[in-house]
Amino acid sequence: MSRQAYRAALLHAVDDPSVVPADEAIVAHDDGLLLVEDGHVAAFGDWAERGPTLSADVELTELPGQLIIPGFIDAHTHYPQTDVMAAWGSQLLDWLNNHTFPAELAFADRGHADEAAGFFLDQLLRNGTTSALVFCTVHKASVEALFEAALARNMRLVAGKVLMDRGAPAGLLDTVETGRADTEALIRAWQGRGRLGYAVTPRFAVTSSDEQLAMAGAVAAAHPEVLIHTHLSENLAEIDRVAELFPGAKDYLDVYAQHGLVTSRSVFAHCVHASEDSLKRMAAAGASAAFCPSSNLLLGSGLFSLRQACRCGVNVALGTDVGAGSSFSQLAMMGEAYKVGQLAGEPLDPFQAFYAATLAGARALRLDDRIGNLAPGKEADFLVIDPAATPLLARRTAAARNWRERLFALSLLADDRAIARTFVAGSCAHKRTG
Ligand code: GUN
Ligand code: ZN
Repeated sequence: MSRQAYRAALLHAVDDPSVVPADEAIVAHDDGLLLVEDGHVAAFGDWAERGPTLSADVELTELPGQLIIPGFIDAHTHYPQTDVMAAWGSQLLDWLNNHTFPAELAFADRGHADEAAGFFLDQLLRNGTTSALVFCTVHKASVEALFEAALARNMRLVAGKVLMDRGAPAGLLDTVETGRADTEALIRAWQGRGRLGYAVTPRFAVTSSDEQLAMAGAVAAAHPEVLIHTHLSENLAEIDRVAELFPGAKDYLDVYAQHGLVTSRSVFAHCVHASEDSLKRMAAAGASAAFCPSSNLLLGSGLFSLRQACRCGVNVALGTDVGAGSSFSQLAMMGEAYKVGQLAGEPLDPFQAFYAATLAGARALRLDDRIGNLAPGKEADFLVIDPAATPLLARRTAAARNWRERLFALSLLADDRAIARTFVAGSCAHKRTG
């Protein structure tokens, strides 16, 4: 058996701070011990309790001044959109037509997909993200490229082939039948292989016919182990378009509900303009929302109210939404989420943001029995954070009086330089150089 011990400060979320008191939801050990056995967490606690009596066969790494946290989980992102990050000047529907669809057309080429998948996953790891729920493109091979690259890195990743049979360039369209056949084949080939999972992925109601959404619901129903991943109520023009296309639906969420797509396995990106009533229906179904603050700001989509969604009982996880989002960093998303909250008069508690970037993501992906925190038995996906990675960070985190302040400073001031190491299933998958 391989056994490694790490001595550092430890911090993780064991519950939702909007539901239980923050001092119960967030657990910290200033001088902690993380013990890993065969890629799983064996102990997470105070150094003083077990450290001094560790047996001689345990490989000990002392990390004074460093912080260990669970790997971040990105609840919504697009691997084919790295090259459209930082696109100037448009809102959602124009942005899709002018920037995103042209970039996605290039994924008909498997070589391009392989290169982009490797780059994307390496960006995740260097930013401390060990798991993600990922959109590919309409091309089946785009999913194979991402899964192969994730398998090689032993990452726990959930992804799917985009379904869209209208409203996009011809080279990006499938049909009900080809969409079904490709989705079924990908589920057979990849669901449960290594640490991978599949998500049935209709892009959004604008680009799928009634028949295709019905097919997506039927395939998801036939495979209770897979997720459902789509976009919902992001932008006002998009919402008007959905109302025109689906006059029989009560609202945007109802379009998905009518096709069996609102379930406890569903993750809806954005939900910026979702009504209180639709948030409550999402909560009743056990569906999750992915809050993507960087994207919502760049595309001018609007201000998501995390507080309202939590009040309605919706599980809210953070997502980067690369490439509408302008960073791969979930620390940066915590900071952006705070700023969105400020604009709505609802400043976000750093512990709530931390929960949304870790355990809430695991809950959204239905993987909280395996990842999301460092409770004994979970897979050892974790980060070593260097709170003194830059002179400014060193100065500001030294002045922080407690974990809430330290975490907040990291979320506003840190970037990938603060991620000293990223561990995937107990093995080091990224080490900062320089
Ligand atoms: N809605 C439908 N497709 C997309 C996409 O690629 N990005 C974002 N942000 N919203 C979408
Ligand atoms: Zn998206």
